[in-house]
Amino acid sequence: MGIERIGVIGAGQMGAGIAQVSAQAGLRVVLCDVDEAAVEAGIAKIKSGLDRLVSKGRLTDSDQSDILGRVSGAASIEGLAEVDFVVEAVTEREAVKRKVFEAVDGVVKDSAILASNTSSISITRLAASTKSPDRFIGMHFMNPVPVMKLVEIIPGLQTSEITLQETRTLAERLGKTCVKADDQPGFIVNRILMPMINEAVVALQEGLGSPEDIDTGMKLGTNQPMGPLQLADFIGLDTCLAIMEVLHDGLGDSKYRPAPLLRRYVDAGWLGKKTGRGFYQY
Ligand SMILES: NC(=O)c1ccc[n+]([C@@H]2O[C@H](COP(=O)([O-])OP(=O)(O)OC[C@H]3O[C@@H](n4cnc5c(N)ncnc54)[C@H](O)[C@@H]3O)[C@@H](O)[C@H]2O)c1
Repeated sequence: MGIERIGVIGAGQMGAGIAQVSAQAGLRVVLCDVDEAAVEAGIAKIKSGLDRLVSKGRLTDSDQSDILGRVSGAASIEGLAEVDFVVEAVTEREAVKRKVFEAVDGVVKDSAILASNTSSISITRLAASTKSPDRFIGMHFMNPVPVMKLVEIIPGLQTSEITLQETRTLAERLGKTCVKADDQPGFIVNRILMPMINEAVVALQEGLGSPEDIDTGMKLGTNQPMGPLQLADFIGLDTCLAIMEVLHDGLGDSKYRPAPLLRRYVDAGWLGKKTGRGFYQY
């Protein structure tokens, strides 16, 4: 099966990025969200991402209009009837994702592959809630999608070999390098990254240092391009909390307990860059 049309569900920071790299690779894209304003904002974000490439001379104006011409928006799942491949990038909540897949199952072609961009939720369990778990897989892009080279590919217990191959081929077509991760909470990257971010929040809460000192310490002391608190703000503190909860529940070890300060920031609606305030102001 050749993949020519892709549906992206959730037009937030990840969904817009996935739609952008897909359209740049020549695929037709339907970008779908429950929130019509999010669809418009997602398409505007793609346009401004492409504007930057034009201003750097990496794309021509006509490339840009061709790419944008391949992206359409949809405020309902019904818009996905013709797609060959779906990437779900909605809020990191299992109940929300399950509902989305239930609706998608009733709309897409039988041959379509369904992929979740979840950062941490069990692919095997999400797959089990769909009609064809053999055509379900985890496809975990990194943020910001147009810049980051990695895609983690996570087959669930039921995922077929052909689904795995098609997904790997698609990721490579989008210019990404794949690693295959076993379906365990957090997969490879977040299993290791999130406890570090969570520990940085615990350190802040315990007065070990200011946000700037914690981040500069980790940046210059361990050669990371950005400190853990700034990275948390970029990921979204709600997403970080949701991933820590999955690690804590799924692995049953108290070392994954979410930092109370992280929970308080999320309760306050201070979700990081996307809301203008997290550990820093934006
Ligand atoms: N932020 C990151 O750094 C990052 C990295 C890798 C993976 N992820 C994963 O990607 C997913 C999305 O994260 P994000 O940062 O883009 O979040 P976001 O909050 O920016 O966007 C989520 C979008 O999903 C939409 N949505 C919610 N419920 C929906 C539904 N029922 N149907 C359609 N759309 C719906 C929301 O309106 C919103 O536009 C999560 O699973 C997250 O764990 C995030």
